[in-house]
Amino acid sequence: MGWKSLDDMDLSGKRVLVRVDINVPVENGRVTDTTRIERIVPTIHDILEKGGKPMLIAHFGRPKGKVSLDLSLAQVLPALQSALDRKVRLIETLEGAEHLTQEAAEADVLLLENIRFHPGETANDPEFAQRLAALGDVFCNDAFSAAHRAHASTAGIAALMPSCAGRLMQAELSALEAALSKPERPVGAVVGGAKVSTKIALLENLVNRLDVLVIGGGMANTFLGALGADMGASLKEEDFYDTACDILAQADKAGCRVILPADGLVAREFAAGAAHEVIALNADTTLDADQMVLDAGPASIDTLRTAFKELKTLIWNGPMGAFEIAPFDTATVAAAKLAAERTQSGALISVAGGGDTVAALNQAGVAEDFTYISTAGGAFLEWMEGKTLPGVAALEGASG
Ligand code: 3PG
Repeated sequence: MGWKSLDDMDLSGKRVLVRVDINVPVENGRVTDTTRIERIVPTIHDILEKGGKPMLIAHFGRPKGKVSLDLSLAQVLPALQSALDRKVRLIETLEGAEHLTQEAAEADVLLLENIRFHPGETANDPEFAQRLAALGDVFCNDAFSAAHRAHASTAGIAALMPSCAGRLMQAELSALEAALSKPERPVGAVVGGAKVSTKIALLENLVNRLDVLVIGGGMANTFLGALGADMGASLKEEDFYDTACDILAQADKAGCRVILPADGLVAREFAAGAAHEVIALNADTTLDADQMVLDAGPASIDTLRTAFKELKTLIWNGPMGAFEIAPFDTATVAAAKLAAERTQSGALISVAGGGDTVAALNQAGVAEDFTYISTAGGAFLEWMEGKTLPGVAALEGASG
């Protein structure tokens, strides 16, 4: 933990540049999930309480260095003001930030328009980073979920001024360190989702660090196919059968027990409420050409119940089946509830994050019952892959 926190900084009378991630889902101009916005509130409050003046720097979507009005942060402003319970002033241009009007200078909180409207941001252009740094006295990075990007406002800027982690960044790093760097053992993970191809590095890192790895979702079909099963029309990646076998061999060598579904809910169409049957899954399984596994079955859930009882720490990434369509959310919901119960009874530390994960846990109604839910998608996965995140590394090497 080589970075400073807000506790280490004197912010009285200082202009504080705060990198936040308010890249939230918006439909018809309205924010549909405010989680990321709510999670930055403690940082802004602490900065204000310490006498600092926050100027928020954020991206929204991927405008590729061009001004694009449909990616204006103006859409996020009402939700941000409501979460902070105070007025936030949107500064539309860098020139506007460099020459603040009297009114803007008096506002409690400033928000700079989508930083990715500037090509220098994603290019991590040193001159652009310098221009940003000149807007403040202190840099506070609270955007763990953008820390896998080596951009001017996530990485470049930290070397140019006194820098620290915000409260959310701190919470994310502490939770992930507790889960993976120095976990209470035995430690296991549930890794689900559609494709092995997108999670090879993740699986390879995890098998060397975990005691138990549960593989679910479409990925499990690829593993079962690699072991010899004929998975019919199930989602699978035949080109990755060798990779799956390598990962199983690495797990074996490292002493990590891999749990694949022992049975599945099998249907002949991908549709909500599709007729289905429970079929045992193993190397000898032969499905009809039009049959597909859409979820793990009851025996698989029983195996998880037993496995979870032995674990002290659990990392969760990705759903166990096609959780968007009932009843193929059954295994995801059941497993999430089991993990939530063990967490609530004090027996388990549970940390979840990445992609569809939070949506799946919300569907199970247990998002509140996990020890920690990360706001990060790609950054969570890269952390789990064991990669150094440029935004975190920049804080560690910051100018103090
Ligand atoms: C995210 O939504 O995961 C972060 O905001 C990063 O966004 P990006 O993938 O566009 O860099």
